[in-house]
Amino acid sequence: MVLPKDGLFYRPEHWPETQYAFEKNPLTNDGFALGRTLFYDPILSTDSTVSCASCHFQYTAFAHVDHPTSHGVASRIGKRNAPGLMNLAWYPNFHWDGGVLDLNGQAINPMTHPDEMGSSLEEILNKLNRDSWYRAQFKKVFGVERIKTSQLLNALAQFTVSLVSANSKYDSVMRKEANFSEQERKGYKLFQRHCNQCHTEPLFTNFKFEANGIGPNPQLLDSGRALITGKASDAYLFRVPTLRNIEYSFPYMHDGRISKLKEVLAHYANSSNWQNPKSRALTQKKITLNINEQKDLLSFLKTLSDKQFLFNQAFRFPR
Ligand code: HEC
Ligand code: HEC
Repeated sequence: MVLPKDGLFYRPEHWPETQYAFEKNPLTNDGFALGRTLFYDPILSTDSTVSCASCHFQYTAFAHVDHPTSHGVASRIGKRNAPGLMNLAWYPNFHWDGGVLDLNGQAINPMTHPDEMGSSLEEILNKLNRDSWYRAQFKKVFGVERIKTSQLLNALAQFTVSLVSANSKYDSVMRKEANFSEQERKGYKLFQRHCNQCHTEPLFTNFKFEANGIGPNPQLLDSGRALITGKASDAYLFRVPTLRNIEYSFPYMHDGRISKLKEVLAHYANSSNWQNPKSRALTQKKITLNINEQKDLLSFLKTLSDKQFLFNQAFRFPR
């Protein structure tokens, strides 16, 4: 499959409808390029040391790999693992607890969070408006003399919404351009039986809030979805993460507690290990996956790696 050279958004065939309101923030080459520059620029943090890319690194599918939970300004440690960023146009909500509904507004959170970029919109807009290069770029893209919050957020979203990953081996097999190996095929069967209910194809998430039996983290006491809804029945539920590029987006889970994919499979392999709370999909059946089955699943999960996405020049550091 030929990808757009400029990196701009495209919708793969046979994928569901997107959720993102493109009409509210029409994508342009210049808007995408400006968003990319901002994404890689530490100017958005209070002491100009942390950029979006500090926690969302392209070669690891825009996840943060060197720590279980994210590190921000002055090495402050956050409560959650930075998720990979891809296919966000299809997401009905954002963050592990679904607390953000609009991708255009999402970036306010990291920019102003004391443990992430620790800045304020006023401080950022002052810095950007003092910079003649940025002023000229925003004028070119949005036709404005002074940069305001909405243009800053829209530019960032034009970049992040364009991060489409749909060209893994799995996708080639679905397009009938390639075949699974015997082991991958066995793994795919196991996947469909045990995992697809939550990690639903082709996005590899159903975007629901579930508990996969890893149990609450006693240090963080992060109650997940309940923080947003206030409902006791939502305690310790987290949004099902995508499994695309999962080989690269370690560590795993909302708190990054598992560092190796093998260990994730070992967790799912034996239902007697699962802790409460657990979603109905997990209480309905007992599963045991022997070591060969775990290897088969692992080899299938690796077919979700999309090297063209991970190494796409259009997404990398702009200069
Ligand atoms: C200090 C690390 C850090 C920085 C810097 C950071 N992020 Fe994040 N990002 C995270 C974490 C952690 C989450 C998950 C937050 C949660 O679930 O509460 C996240 C979530 C996201 C999401 C939602 C993904 C999803 O699956 O729902 C997007 C989009 C995103 N970040 C974009 C950005 C942009 C754009 C910037 C720069 C303006 C940025 N991030 C800066 C750590 C960071
Ligand atoms: C009941 C729904 C459900 C089922 C079934 C399920 N998962 Fe998950 N999975 C989740 C949730 C929810 C998380 C995030 C949990 C958290 O962080 O607290 C997750 C996390 C993961 C992660 C870590 C992803 C990341 O980016 O951190 C992997 C890998 C994974 N699951 C693989 C699988 C495999 C393989 C199967 C089948 C054997 C499976 N899952 C079955 C709900 C499910």
